[in-house]
Amino acid sequence: MTAPHERLRARLGDPALYLDDPADTAPYGRDWIGKYEGAVPLVVRPRSTAEVSAVLAACTELDVPVVPQAGNTGMVGGSVPRAGEVVLSVERMGVIEAFDEASATVRVQAGVVLEALQGFLAERGCDMPVDLGARGSCRIGGMIATNAGGIKVLRYGHMREQVRGLEVVLADGTVVEGLNILRKNNTGLDLKQVFIGSEGTLGVITRAVLQAQPAPQAFQTALAGLASRALLPPLLQAARARFPRLSSLEFVDGATVAYVREADPELRIPLAGEHGSYVVIEEECAAGEAAGEAFAAGLESLLEDGLIEDAVIAGSEAQARAIWRVREAPTETVSRRGLTHKFDVTVPPGVIPAFLGEMETLADGFPGVRAVLFGHLGDGNVHVNMAQEPGLADADFRAMEADLADAIYGAVHGHQGSISAEHGIGVMKRAYLPLARSPEEIALMRTLKAALDPKGILNPGVILGP
Ligand code: FAD
Ligand code: MLT
Ligand code: ZN
Repeated sequence: MTAPHERLRARLGDPALYLDDPADTAPYGRDWIGKYEGAVPLVVRPRSTAEVSAVLAACTELDVPVVPQAGNTGMVGGSVPRAGEVVLSVERMGVIEAFDEASATVRVQAGVVLEALQGFLAERGCDMPVDLGARGSCRIGGMIATNAGGIKVLRYGHMREQVRGLEVVLADGTVVEGLNILRKNNTGLDLKQVFIGSEGTLGVITRAVLQAQPAPQAFQTALAGLASRALLPPLLQAARARFPRLSSLEFVDGATVAYVREADPELRIPLAGEHGSYVVIEEECAAGEAAGEAFAAGLESLLEDGLIEDAVIAGSEAQARAIWRVREAPTETVSRRGLTHKFDVTVPPGVIPAFLGEMETLADGFPGVRAVLFGHLGDGNVHVNMAQEPGLADADFRAMEADLADAIYGAVHGHQGSISAEHGIGVMKRAYLPLARSPEEIALMRTLKAALDPKGILNPGVILGP
């Protein structure tokens, strides 16, 4: 019997629509962290909604399973094939179609790269307030499909909060066009919400209308050192009160900064000495000296209260970038040094210090594993990276995943936290979904899946499992 991808290739006919040379398709089968990898028999690369519709209609008719892919920076294994599925990449759907000045909304195709959108909006005095380290690679379709968070959630929310309208193609090729630009449109079910965060399991997002925000006149950015991680919760409380336009509050554990420094001696830490914990504080503000003085006074008060022991304020964009590097470098370091089991979790902010201690103790029980700890303090979002140390064989490291996950999710559950803060469920966390959602919620998810994708061709196994 002909393989599914061969049936699809024969149906598509036009070789301009797909890649099938293994040298071309292989990169679509490896995820960004280098942990998930699968064979890719065919990559379909539509340029329009009509082409996506034709491809999905054929896939449903011919029983061809499909993995939707955008920038392939996802961290839970949902963007690459697992069992020879065809990849449907939206990378050629990169058009920023329209900007509506009065509503400050922008209509884009799903393949637009975040950084390109940020640049487009900056030229119009606006900003896309979801920002993340993958900005140069992640694409709007993937960000909506994962409901991405990032470094400004505490002020602007996740991707979900930015989406005004959505166009989605269902598994059978039906185009559901809901490209609403209105803030108020209370006309029955808000259907787009079903697809935001659905990780490619219910439909392929082809276009979106996003709400832009006025670009801040200026930013104040600081790196502060804390004597101990125990001070993180009171610092969060104080920062909220003292920086009224706080847009980011991020932390990196002291041991993680030391680890990154050791792995990358070129990394410049723009703060003298060693600290128990580091935080990046960023506030949006008006241009001019007064805003700078108010920000410095806020930091001074944190020093006086003993919440921080030192701080440096960026005096230029280059210095701000150097500060942000301290926060963003650990992600690159762990992926460069070996494999990592990444656990993106939320716990109530007050228990973060205890939780970080538990994660360190846990790693100590797994020889060859190091806990690399950082995250979005303002959201209670801890990125627990259990990283492979040199000397531990890949197979042995991979075999530890279930034990690590059981222990970490058990601790998270005990603290009334969430097993996924912002990365989603993918294939990595599907076995743990019952820890986060009730049986009735999971049953309703299955009902929706069966209604929208009765043959189960869209991202099989993601979120709900086989
Ligand atoms: P992909 O990885 O291609 O896909 C992700 C999921 O969406 C997959 O399940 C895929 O099947 C599905 N999908 C993709 N496109 C579509 C579509 N058009 N229609 C339907 N489904 C689709 N995430 C955060 O939330 N916050 C962070 O701070 C953050 N920082 C990161 C930093 C780095 C350096 C990296 C590498 C990743 C980071 N991430 C972060 C992970 C994050 O999930 C992604 O970067 C982003 O949201 C995924 O976008 P993508 O275009 O790469 O999607
Ligand atoms: C981050 O906040 O840096 C990301 O979500 C990526 C990661 O978890 O490494
Ligand atoms: Zn994050």
